Amino acid sequence: MKGIILSGGTATRLFPLTATTSKQLLPVYDRQMIFYPLNTLIKAGIKDILMIVAPEHSGQYLNLLGSIFEKYDIRIDFKVQKSPKGLAEAFVLGEEFIDNGNVTMILGDNIFEDDFSEDIKNFKSGAKIFAKKVADPERSGVVKFDENNKAIQIVEKPKEWISDYAIPGLYIYDNQVSSVAKKVEPSERGEKEITSLHNYYLEKEELEVSIVDGVWLDAGTFDSLLEAGNVVKEKEIYKKFDPVINQAILEFNEELKVMAKKRLI
Ligand code: DAU
Repeated sequence: MKGIILSGGTATRLFPLTATTSKQLLPVYDRQMIFYPLNTLIKAGIKDILMIVAPEHSGQYLNLLGSIFEKYDIRIDFKVQKSPKGLAEAFVLGEEFIDNGNVTMILGDNIFEDDFSEDIKNFKSGAKIFAKKVADPERSGVVKFDENNKAIQIVEKPKEWISDYAIPGLYIYDNQVSSVAKKVEPSERGEKEITSLHNYYLEKEELEVSIVDGVWLDAGTFDSLLEAGNVVKEKEIYKKFDPVINQAILEFNEELKVMAKKRLI
């Protein structure tokens, strides 16, 4: 199983914070947002990760994540997405990296409390996505279930209500995903929509949907960014990180301190 973190985009809703850095490098409590999705993948045992980033922020990502995991046998590759052409484009850009295997993708601004190790380790084929009951489903991809809890319809940001179940930004796919993504036509807003991939698997009856029990946060607005920091603190999500990440962050901070001291001499 390989992992992709989609961490590009323009994040205009967080302007002017994002005039100087990437949204996913903004702080959520005591660490950069990107460490939360990284933790979800690393905790699940994924050691081969592709970070997809916007060109203007690629240097910052390389600086932060380029080497901190090397000695822990975790490989991070980088790929630039020239412009935000949609979530499903990640599987076109990542085709060579995926190399015909299974892949888990997480969005760089999605924070989860749950541990998805079992879902990721037990995944065999088809696609697995997740659902979470929310108060504002019109802001997300949405899944409708029938009376037997079987997924029957998936719509990206429905204008008319169909269900309260949003689809969070964590997706597991088999090796069909890149060829399907290549064929997805851009939507009205000019993006290759991730929901087109879900619908491909839904139509083939190869889509599994599981409910997320714990907290799910999408830190894309001022309010949700603030809420993310507060929830992470209250629920002590940062304390439940994989020890490898905490150690890597600590070592990186120590390196920075040494460099800062040298500059002062
Ligand atoms: O957060 C979950 C939701 O994410 C899903 O329920 C929706 O189905 C999905 O379309 C997406 O909706 P958003 O409106 O939140 O997508 P947004 O444009 O904010 O992009 C999500 C993240 O992916 C964000 O961190 C920026 C990044 N991104 C986005 C696009 C379109 C890229 O890196 N490249 C892109 O081309």
